Amino acid sequence: MVLDGKTALITGAARGIGRAIALRFASEGAAVGLIDLKSTDELARSLEAQGLEGFALELDITDPERVRETFDEVARQRGVIDILVNNAGIIARGTILELGHETWRRVLEVNLNGTFNCCKAAIPHMVRQKSGRILNISSIAGKMGDITAAPAYGTSKGAINTFTRSLARQLAEHGITVNGIAPHAIETDMSAEWSEEKRREVIGGIPLKRMGRPEDVAEAALFLVSEAASFITGEVLNVNGGALMD
Ligand SMILES: NC(=O)c1ccc[n+]([C@@H]2O[C@H](COP(=O)([O-])OP(=O)(O)OC[C@H]3O[C@@H](n4cnc5c(N)ncnc54)[C@H](O)[C@@H]3O)[C@@H](O)[C@H]2O)c1
Repeated sequence: MVLDGKTALITGAARGIGRAIALRFASEGAAVGLIDLKSTDELARSLEAQGLEGFALELDITDPERVRETFDEVARQRGVIDILVNNAGIIARGTILELGHETWRRVLEVNLNGTFNCCKAAIPHMVRQKSGRILNISSIAGKMGDITAAPAYGTSKGAINTFTRSLARQLAEHGITVNGIAPHAIETDMSAEWSEEKRREVIGGIPLKRMGRPEDVAEAALFLVSEAASFITGEVLNVNGGALMD
């Protein structure tokens, strides 16, 4: 199996894309730390029932101290942190005229600073190990600006893309790769709030003419953290049905 014996931490694992990534990694032999604000106990139990390995970590990624303590404890118990997937994120809707300072700060706090907090906590362990895989879940909005969200969201994701490339440069000498995925229009709770008209409009802009599935992102994630991708770093891979080709 592709991730046999690996320890992977995945943020936002309670549902949607994070959950699909957790299930996929576990099915390839990884022990998966299921990080979320919400309880992931049920997911951990369901993995266990399938003979797979997952452990629930209830954690707010915007709390740097708790993130560090949790990651140190995982490294102490398991010896390593092989993989970190920064997937947890929030969205806000509306235009710049509607966007308030509090929403702006909150979106950047979770999406960007939360990613920073988790990287800061995982990287010392990866440097010590001289190996690691970091994968940041960005968005098409980070490359082309917001389509369906308030401008704080795309801004946070654009910053994540730059952060991904900066880390990729700095961590290469330590045997750590840092990549991203830029999804678009994936069927999750985050996109469920779209009106029928909005969905039709979004699908109309996708050459493959369908919404994406969380599993579509999980397959790309598996590749990018696997040994097969050992010569890829600093890449932010489109998983978008062709909506953006760059
Ligand atoms: N769904 C899409 O169409 C789409 C498109 C592009 C990018 N993305 C990105 O993919 C990622 C996952 O999206 P999704 O659609 O599965 O979202 P989702 O809202 O279904 O799930 C996000 C998860 O993150 C958790 N979370 C939020 N804040 C947290 C915090 N402070 N600490 C810990 N956990 C927290 C939530 O509890 C939730 O379980 C996000 O980063 C999102 O921006 C999604």
